[in-house]
Amino acid sequence: MVEFVEIGKEAELRAEERVLIQIEDREILLIQHEGDFYALANLCSHDGEALGDADVEDGEIICPRHGARFNLSSGAATGLPAVVGVPVYQVKIEDGAVFLGISY
Ligand code: FES
Repeated sequence: MVEFVEIGKEAELRAEERVLIQIEDREILLIQHEGDFYALANLCSHDGEALGDADVEDGEIICPRHGARFNLSSGAATGLPAVVGVPVYQVKIEDGAVFLGISY
């Protein structure tokens, strides 16, 4: 089941390029790229590096530790050494508020 959790007002979140959000035991990176929001686990699937400071290029986030790449939309691993993707979360904007879809 997916439950949408409000994480803040769109205007406030737009002011930040990246925001770390803690929802229960999940640390989620909300990132803006080319005007869209993306949300993914702040944890590289290769060896657990945080992705909060990772570069973004061509719709992919690049782990700063060993260079694995992940598609921002799907979380799929698109570059070695990662072979497993990272969880992504649906982002919804309604009435000026931003929500993340969290699966339980
Ligand atoms: S920890 Fe991210 S590529 Fe190795």
